[in-house]
Amino acid sequence: MRQVLKVFVLLVWIVPLAWVETLGATDKPFVIGFSQATTTEPWRLLFNKELRTEAAKYPEIELIVRDGQDDAQKQFADVEEFIEQRVDLILISPKVAGALTPVVNKAFDMGIPIIVLDRDLANKRYTQFIGGDNKLIGRTAGQYAVSRLGGEGKASGNLVEIWGGMKSTPAHDRHEGFAEVISKEPGIRSLVVARDGDWKQDLGYEIMADALERFDKIDLVYAHNDPMAYGAYLAAKDAGRENGIVFLGIDAIPAEGVRWVHEGVLTATFLYMTPGAEGIRQAIRLLRGEEIQRRVTLPTMTIDRSNAEQILLRHGLLSDEEDDKTEEHSKLIAERPSMPASQSGGAQ
Ligand code: FRU
Repeated sequence: MRQVLKVFVLLVWIVPLAWVETLGATDKPFVIGFSQATTTEPWRLLFNKELRTEAAKYPEIELIVRDGQDDAQKQFADVEEFIEQRVDLILISPKVAGALTPVVNKAFDMGIPIIVLDRDLANKRYTQFIGGDNKLIGRTAGQYAVSRLGGEGKASGNLVEIWGGMKSTPAHDRHEGFAEVISKEPGIRSLVVARDGDWKQDLGYEIMADALERFDKIDLVYAHNDPMAYGAYLAAKDAGRENGIVFLGIDAIPAEGVRWVHEGVLTATFLYMTPGAEGIRQAIRLLRGEEIQRRVTLPTMTIDRSNAEQILLRHGLLSDEEDDKTEEHSKLIAERPSMPASQSGGAQ
């Protein structure tokens, strides 16, 4: 009997202790695990910041953030840990599609709600996807390129396309949307074969440096994100050939892509909003028992010389001197969209 009592007393102590341990010593009712692919690019840091800021508005959630460190295996292990911890909901922005699909499916099959952010997976066995429409962004960039190269039906020039991570869905969608438009222009010649730029500035530099060595005439560079477009610009500058080349990027974060457009380094960039804030909003709705859509699409916009300054002003990123010059313009500043303009897909 004494033995039974001992076991009972032990259980009374250990079980609640273990419970507190899993919840990260919190009495908050919901634990959300967020698995981020990497924190090596400014866009990812902004993403984390927006996600944390939104999460801080909801006292009922505890947020655990893990950095996959640009390594799919590490990210896989991070999600497995969330599953073992039995968190209430998982948010993931996967580094690559193929290698991370199984662990997302595992969470989903075990009944843990899982929301996929920004990069999609090899199948749709997850709760929800939130991200930009990368095909639309690619098409918009394609139309912009055509207009800069002479206009519809008569565009001509030599093009270098710099791919993002070839194992991730945004790179393929950005390519396909762009190719859809460009392929209708026989005067546009694509110079280089697709090579993985892994979204990195230094690889953008390398790919462009090779192209500059091989081709005397390059008219337009389309890079799948701003850091690679900037890397390509630096390569052209080092070769003394930056003038006369149109550089297009994607992301448009104010302190980076928009600033480069304002400085005349990039010709244009296309907004790719981070899904950080929307990810938390959707997670909260789900945890509160509301119905959520299968897919939430974030809006985009074009940023070039016509609006870059206004965006920088609004973010307090211009000096006073520049500020004075454009005082009257500041009144016309258009708000950056903060809510999805279009949403597609139905209930699960
Ligand atoms: C950051 C990033 C962005 C890009 C997005 C695509 O890691 O490379 O620059 O738009 O990921 O998933």
